[in-house]
Amino acid sequence: MKTCFVRLTALLALGLSPALAATLVGYAELPADTFAAGPASGAYNGQGVRGAARFPSQPVQGFSGVQAAKDGSYVFLSDNGYGAKANSADFLLRMYRLNLTAKNGPTGKGEVKVGNFIQLRDPDRKVPWLIVNGASADRLLTGADFDVEGFVVAPDGTLWVGDEFGPYLLHFSADGKLLDAPIATPNLVGLPTLKGQAPIVVGHRGSSGTRPEHTLESYRMAIEGGADFVEPDLVVTKDGVLVARHEPVMASVDKDGKVLEATTDVATRPEFKDRLTTKKLDGVDVRGYFVEDFTLAELKTLRAVERLPALRGKNYDGKFEVPTLAEVIALVKDVEAKTGRKVGIYPETKHPTYFRQMGVNTSQLLIDTLKKEGFTNPDRVFIQSFETANLKDLKASIMPKAGVSLPLVQLVSSPDEAPYDWTAQGDTRKYGALTTDAALKDIAAYASGVGAYKRWIITDQGETTDFVARAHAAGLMVHPWTFRNEATYLLPAYANDPEAEMRQALRAGVDGFFTDFPATGANVVRAYTAPEVRSPQNPAFATGTSSSAANLGGSGGFEGVALSPSGKTLYALLEKTVTGDVAGQLRLHAFDLASRTWTLAGRYTLEDAGNAIGDLTPVNATEYLVLERDNGSGDTAKFKRVYKVSTSEKNADGTLKKTLVVDLMNVKDPQGLAPSTRSGTFTFPYVTIENVLVLDANTILVANDNNYPGTGGRGADVKDHTEFLWLKLDAPLNLAEGVGRK
Ligand code: G3P
Ligand code: CA
Repeated sequence: MKTCFVRLTALLALGLSPALAATLVGYAELPADTFAAGPASGAYNGQGVRGAARFPSQPVQGFSGVQAAKDGSYVFLSDNGYGAKANSADFLLRMYRLNLTAKNGPTGKGEVKVGNFIQLRDPDRKVPWLIVNGASADRLLTGADFDVEGFVVAPDGTLWVGDEFGPYLLHFSADGKLLDAPIATPNLVGLPTLKGQAPIVVGHRGSSGTRPEHTLESYRMAIEGGADFVEPDLVVTKDGVLVARHEPVMASVDKDGKVLEATTDVATRPEFKDRLTTKKLDGVDVRGYFVEDFTLAELKTLRAVERLPALRGKNYDGKFEVPTLAEVIALVKDVEAKTGRKVGIYPETKHPTYFRQMGVNTSQLLIDTLKKEGFTNPDRVFIQSFETANLKDLKASIMPKAGVSLPLVQLVSSPDEAPYDWTAQGDTRKYGALTTDAALKDIAAYASGVGAYKRWIITDQGETTDFVARAHAAGLMVHPWTFRNEATYLLPAYANDPEAEMRQALRAGVDGFFTDFPATGANVVRAYTAPEVRSPQNPAFATGTSSSAANLGGSGGFEGVALSPSGKTLYALLEKTVTGDVAGQLRLHAFDLASRTWTLAGRYTLEDAGNAIGDLTPVNATEYLVLERDNGSGDTAKFKRVYKVSTSEKNADGTLKKTLVVDLMNVKDPQGLAPSTRSGTFTFPYVTIENVLVLDANTILVANDNNYPGTGGRGADVKDHTEFLWLKLDAPLNLAEGVGRK
């Protein structure tokens, strides 16, 4: 007794609940090979190629949803057939009435009788795309049309079914006729950007991950990849023309003449060897070839080379010129003329103090060039700088005098660096001084945003900071840099997935980001901002009508649907995480049956991001049972549980509170009701468990989905049956009136 008390105390001290062990009080099973009338099926393979039918009629199982019928029987929904769209075109979608008799004593006998069925069908042609039996009059629905995973019976007797292919909600009459067009799933998450606007993708130096940076070809690739803006860094030629280079130095060399870094082939040109010189650039001696020592005509004889050849290769060296700002503007205008797309330009005046010391005001030159080229639409330009004084000058003087007003962006580099205009004046502060709440407020007086080094937003431990929230509070947009696909630039937590880093930044609320791979960035933003949640099986992809990629994994749709005890709200829980959401968090939707409007009821957190949910059923107005399981079966099954989730109580991170109700891998069976029970303990090691229903305050019904003709739950070569469990809970549920079997 004392030992037990100590163990319990220790568990509670660790914040853990002691393992629950519900009791099996009833058991029945339905043999795997159970068939109902209907056409032969199982003729299609995983590629959708038709062969010989494996079964003479329709398999009854596996089951993906259950409701109690008034006459004491149960209605079970059959899953989509053989596990995939391609192989399930001859599996008819049905609900079967089952009469269950539990074995509830050592000598009793469990029994399952399959009664009549409801055939789901679309005779009124509500489905607007091609379905398998589209040409027939009754248009019987198949497992290639929808993947049905749960259902409820509304107060008016109609049936609402959750699907995975859309995912959709499907509305049927009581006898299975589709009443409405499939209802798509809206992407309900409001964008956490400054004003809820879509984040922008800035092609950093163009598409510099795939072409030599700051060439027209690099910008063109960025635009083709979906960049909203292209970024030219700007320096000045000897004859006063703004050209795109990251640095004034086009090739830096060491004291022995060895090239350290180059963005052009100038160091290989004997005709320019006299231009090799050493200059002080922002207080540092730099030896090399400088743009300001070349006329535009001379510069145009050079060719761009890859800055990072060891990482990105030299395939495009020698092919492209150094472009002028005017040529970059001409490129985006040409794109607009040909396609209608209004791509913006995000220029950065490089080293303003350095050029100012030469007598060149690059900010003035930039505004003059934009005006001359007719590119002053504030929706299509952001002007950025790592210094502060030039931006203030632009805001207070240069732009007003020129009659233009363009948004400015204060760049904020790493904490060990400083704006050079400060350093040049003896101010020893670093960039951190621009990140306080007061400093952000000051920035907002002259700029519309901050272009922040990304570690201000996501630390090198992968943690999201409060930087974006604080910048937003000051009214500033946030455009971090630089997102790169190569593994060498990614934190270990991203597991070599550059999209994971971009998604974390989007979740943090950034208003856009600079990336060397804008095609990747645009893909991530498209999925993040898509108006609908769509699985890869959504018909929009087959018909080519979707402008974005799938933002939900396959088999990730409405696995759990439940009706509130009031009968007014249908709750629909996704099985997988929507792209961009925190891994392991599942959206719980509330669908108002009267107004047919959706809201986000909350987020359910899986115990492990690799888990999945199997069903959802009501307890009362704010509590619902959820089946959660791992992907193991038989000996590899470890986690099969029933949780109770609250729609009214939230954890500190805003997710819904949940509590363990039953551990299906540890059920007491003192009477030995189930044939698999060993030493009084029953386990339920099926890969998918998709049926749960509250019978009374102390008892729930649970059944697996046997994925007919799947095996593995009770042995590698044993066809899985459907097992029906009556489980007595350790603690009673707080049932609402009307929930449970009378
Ligand atoms: O300008 C912001 C972004 O481009 C990062 O800076 O050094 O690549 O010009 P940088
Ligand atoms: Ca830049």
